[in-house]
Amino acid sequence: SINGLEKNLAFHLSGHILHSIYWQNMTGPKDGGGEPLAADGVGALADAIKESFGSFAGFKAQLTKAAATTQGSGWGVLAYEPLSGRLIVEQVYDHQGNVGQGATPILVFDAWEHAFYLQYKNQKVDFIDAMWAVVNWQDVARRYEAATSRANTLLLAP
Ligand SMILES: [Fe+2]
Repeated sequence: SINGLEKNLAFHLSGHILHSIYWQNMTGPKDGGGEPLAADGVGALADAIKESFGSFAGFKAQLTKAAATTQGSGWGVLAYEPLSGRLIVEQVYDHQGNVGQGATPILVFDAWEHAFYLQYKNQKVDFIDAMWAVVNWQDVARRYEAATSRANTLLLAP
């Protein structure tokens, strides 16, 4: 039974982690959304987004597409990848599939049907557009700072 138990552990642990980040990634519509700006104290994150994706608009388009085109249940995720030192977008299947080892999620969009169906029916893209209006960039920047200041355990010298 170890195969089934390990799969369940990965599923439930990852689901708990992603939802815990998700709730904190959101804020009220008056306080969130837009583009992260240095004036708001999130300059390092704004710079990293431009460095990794070319522009905020390019990043927004990629994460929107990753969340919107998830087949079945999944997530669109912005993660810090420590091997390259860059931000990447991941399209996560269920809670735990299709991701490389070692990246730290810092902004996540729940793209499971339960996240949007009651209000948005089958209009998943409208839901994702609404998500952008409530992103708490202070929280994302805090997570970026924590992820980048952690020792890179993937490249420890022998
Ligand atoms: Fe969910």
